[in-house]
Amino acid sequence: MSEDQIIKTRRRKMKGIILAGGTATRLFPMTATTSKQLLPVYDRQMIFYPLNTLIKAGIKNILVIVAPEHSGQFLNLLGSLLKKHDIHITFEVQSAPRGLAEALTLGENHIGDDNVALILGDNIFEDDFAKQIKEFRSGGHIFAKKVSDPQRFGVVKFNKENRAMEIVEKPQQWISDYAVTGLYLFDNECVELAKKIKPSERGEVEITDVNKAYLKKKQLEVTIFEGEWLDAGTPDSLLQASLIVKEKGISQNFHPILDQAITEFNEELKSLSKKKLK
Ligand code: G1P
Repeated sequence: MSEDQIIKTRRRKMKGIILAGGTATRLFPMTATTSKQLLPVYDRQMIFYPLNTLIKAGIKNILVIVAPEHSGQFLNLLGSLLKKHDIHITFEVQSAPRGLAEALTLGENHIGDDNVALILGDNIFEDDFAKQIKEFRSGGHIFAKKVSDPQRFGVVKFNKENRAMEIVEKPQQWISDYAVTGLYLFDNECVELAKKIKPSERGEVEITDVNKAYLKKKQLEVTIFEGEWLDAGTPDSLLQASLIVKEKGISQNFHPILDQAITEFNEELKSLSKKKLK
């Protein structure tokens, strides 16, 4: 069997990517000194929530894509956090925010011959998608939720049999109330698909175009979910996110590995600050 055939026949692993670049101008001045994804949501930094979504699904290799000015902060927080738990976090710098689909091309070496779960660093999900992530084999799989302001998102329209028919990025005309949320499962082909995407009118390579490519091939699955979905893009929604996370106990329900790693990290910080006081 040739090397190519071996790769095709073995089951592909699932790699993780968290996209945490961008400048988040709507959150100035808070994001003048740090990244949006490092702002607190209730009792921990925002990035821990998408990290938890990937860890719950058993993903062991996670690439975090960050803006150059915040790379040191991300490294301090996550660089050694999960090492001894056999979860490997690596970093890639996105020099300027050129669109979500760029995560797939920046992540090409990380993805290698495997599949990928891409999650936006500011998306907090109450639901556990471990089952869908573990069972994913090929094509694309996205997660949609009914919202009251679909014009702000990528939107998916369904037919009577609940099959996805159309996906539009920020539709001016109403097509559906179902927003495409920031968790995307793609097979290995996504890298080549992402390379072919041309920037949209807003100058970004849109993840919606990757989804559309899978939809065209009839290889896009959509899970509709009911649980909370929070993206803390404005001061009000950031505050709201903290309140909902607290009320629903979302941060108290982390995967035990991540929970333990955060506790260990806290202990280490405490002992360091005691040493400094001496
Ligand atoms: C991006 C995507 C959009 C998706 C949203 C989810 O929007 O382009 O399709 O619905 O994330 O958070 P943006 O945050 O770039 O406006």
